[in-house]
This record gives sequence, C-alpha cells and structure tokens, in this order.
Amino acid sequence: MNMTLTINNKKVTLDIKPDEVLLDTLRANGYLSVQRGCDTSSCGLCAIWVNDEVVLSCTYLTVRAANKNVTTLEGVQKEAKEFADFLADEGADQCGYCAPGFIMTVLAMAKELNNPSEEEIYHYLNGNLCRCTGYKGQIRAIKKYLEFKNN
Ligand code: FES
Ligand code: FES
Repeated sequence: MNMTLTINNKKVTLDIKPDEVLLDTLRANGYLSVQRGCDTSSCGLCAIWVNDEVVLSCTYLTVRAANKNVTTLEGVQKEAKEFADFLADEGADQCGYCAPGFIMTVLAMAKELNNPSEEEIYHYLNGNLCRCTGYKGQIRAIKKYLEFKNN
C-alpha cells in the first residue's frame, strides 16, 4: 500500500506493508542512522521524532506516521554535530553504538525542557541505554550543551 509522509522536511510517498514498523521503512529507504538494538523496546537506539516527539521506531507502525513529520538524525545534522562535540570533549563517545538514539533524545529534550535538573535529565533519558560510559560523561556533556544553548 502507498502512504505519504514527510521525512526530514521532504514529502515522500512510500510503498509499505500494513504491519511494517517505521524503523524498517526508514532503513529500507536509506535512513541508515536509525538502527535496531533490541527486540524488547528497551534500548532507545531506534529513537526518532514524529511531529517533534521522541518515539521508538522499532515499535511504531509506519501507517501511524501518515501525513506526519518524521525526523531522523540525517535531518538534524547541524545540531547533532554541535552536541557531539560536547560529548567528545567529555570523553562520552566511546563505541558510539548508542549515539543515534541518544542524540535524538537529547536534542528533543533541549527543545522541550527549560533548564532541566540532573534528575529530570536522567528521567528523560531513562529509555536510552549505553553499555560503555556509565552516563556520567554524557550528563556532563548534556549540562554543558544546554548551558551553551541557553546563552
Ligand atoms: S531497537 Fe531497542 S528500543 Fe527500539
Ligand atoms: S558509547 Fe558505547 S553504547 Fe554508548
């Protein structure tokens, strides 16, 4: 079946299956930043935005995105690079496996929360697992990034 949606500000019509999830649709159409890290909706690696809200694309049926705006890491390259520089400065980009979903979640948080506390940051990120960093460097990077954005 054909459906129309907007991906990274570009309107597209795609041939999809009724039970297809957005992760598979995006990857099949070249948005390879979107990746699968688990089978249990628990790692956050597949996080993207639908109408500016973070969703787990591994469990989001593509048909639900009809006529909505989908944003992947490919669509926010400038902001992603800006934040990634803070991650690098804090030694928080080790294997990088978690980065696509983590960065999408942090950028959404930066838009949504005004001056979040450390507890709010942890709460916002609790669906994004990282097997390497222990989160301390990531939290430092997020705080410095938010400070930078707010000044
Ligand atoms: S792939 Fe792990 S939450 Fe979607
Ligand atoms: S940096 Fe390796 S999983 Fe997060």
